[in-house]
Amino acid sequence: MTLNLEVWEDRDALYNRALEIFSSELKNGATTFGLATGGTTIPLYEKMRNSSLDFSHCTSVNLDEYVGIPQGHSQSYYTFMQQHLFEAKPFNTTYIPNGEAENVDAEAKRYEDLLKSLTVDMQLLGVGVNGHIGFNEPGTSFQSETDVVELTVSTRSANARFFDTMDEVPKQAITMGIASIMRANYILLIAVGEEKRPAIEALIKGDITEDIPVTRLCNHPNVIVLTDLKISKDQ
Ligand code: GLP
Repeated sequence: MTLNLEVWEDRDALYNRALEIFSSELKNGATTFGLATGGTTIPLYEKMRNSSLDFSHCTSVNLDEYVGIPQGHSQSYYTFMQQHLFEAKPFNTTYIPNGEAENVDAEAKRYEDLLKSLTVDMQLLGVGVNGHIGFNEPGTSFQSETDVVELTVSTRSANARFFDTMDEVPKQAITMGIASIMRANYILLIAVGEEKRPAIEALIKGDITEDIPVTRLCNHPNVIVLTDLKISKDQ
């Protein structure tokens, strides 16, 4: 397995390391970045905003977007990306699925075709408490491509903290598939907080199963995992 694990108990140091990875990718000529949302990414985007990194010649392509809330909604991933990164750190071109499309299935297909026309140099990932990546919930086929998916109660509950009531949390999303994510040349996964331990332990142990989507990364040739969990590679 070529999975590279780095444990950083100091979260600030962990995010400095993540920033350094972005910086060296840029220096090495990376121009297309797969980006993610979620609380995990916020400190990294803050560091990116305050850095001198220049993405103005780059393309970004986001993992996913909710279906059923307008793009301008405070919790849409479109708004998240504008607020946390793009307003301060513009990219030349940014792509994010359109969760407001009239035909969301056609939108998912369009997004997958778009992804296939790009080479993602580096994909940033967080992980859900149940091991989901993007919005690929447990049980999703490892062969999945971009699609419209139903969100589990676990994921909706985890994300409910961003909404006023549970009823407001969308029930569907458009997400890059697991196979789509695996096409990236390099993957940076960040997992912070005890609630992510079961998913990360399964990944490190190499227990590859569609029940824990993140374990698919064991089959990727070039992955780095940054975590603040005290965890050993040899367990
Ligand atoms: C969301 C996103 C994922 C993210 C995950 C973890 O469901 N679709 O891309 O990795 O939640 O979120 P957080 O970083 O807030 O724990």
